[in-house]
Amino acid sequence: MSPSFAEIAPRYDALRPLSTGDRARLGAMLREADLRAGDLVVEVGCGTGRLTLPLAAVTPARVMGVDSEAKMLDVARAKDGAGRVEWVRGSAYRLPVGDGEAALVLMVMVVHLLRQRVRAFSETRRVLRPGGRLGVWTFTPRHVEEFYLNAYFPSIAVIDRPRFPSVQTLTSELRRAGFEDIRVEVRDEPRRIDIAEVVDRVRGRYISTLSLLPPLEYRLGLQRLEEMLAQDRSAMLTQRSEWAIFTART
Ligand SMILES: C[S@@+](CC[C@H](N)C(=O)[O-])C[C@H]1O[C@@H](n2cnc3c(N)ncnc32)[C@H](O)[C@@H]1O
Repeated sequence: MSPSFAEIAPRYDALRPLSTGDRARLGAMLREADLRAGDLVVEVGCGTGRLTLPLAAVTPARVMGVDSEAKMLDVARAKDGAGRVEWVRGSAYRLPVGDGEAALVLMVMVVHLLRQRVRAFSETRRVLRPGGRLGVWTFTPRHVEEFYLNAYFPSIAVIDRPRFPSVQTLTSELRRAGFEDIRVEVRDEPRRIDIAEVVDRVRGRYISTLSLLPPLEYRLGLQRLEEMLAQDRSAMLTQRSEWAIFTART
């Protein structure tokens, strides 16, 4: 079964608001890319435009958001009153962009959903101009092992281990796809979350892995969290997110 982004689309932004860390990473990436009017930025797997729209608000470049799920794009278009972004339904394996047209390609929380990562990286390389940059944001294997919901849903780590490869694996895959000057920053972002928010997130299956769990395990884990909420509304969990932020050049 593959995760259904069509189902989660209407609540995606509420369940996964942009964090301070996301905004800081976006700002740093744009400063480094030094984009000009007429440049093209492509976000692959843009979803509801959670990052695409803040990005488009601060860059002079033309911005395109590509996603395979029509309902995620519907949400994105509805938020883009000014029509600042070109939203296109398409695949990471066949981008709707000509050879060498893009200055920057961004993939945020997408590589864990791709079965053929090298093929997708090669496709991003095709659309980038000489010296163009790719930014890939994903979670590390340590993030998977220490994920704050593992105690409630033991299969999360089993499902996510193969989906979130090591920094070394991704670096070598980017190199195989023809990228150079590959740099990675690993960033730990701890956060305290109150139990009501955790229950809300889990009920909304805010990460795709929750849709891949055996149904009984999902129900029992959610029940345990709901019991915690009923016993003590002030209870908090600590979520440690460990990000791997890659930048690479053609
Ligand atoms: C976890 S969401 C992340 C969305 C967005 N990047 C963000 O951070 O809010 C992953 C998105 O990737 C899209 N996606 C998955 N596989 C794809 C593919 N092969 N080609 C294009 N988009 C894909 C999904 O439809 C979904 O919208």
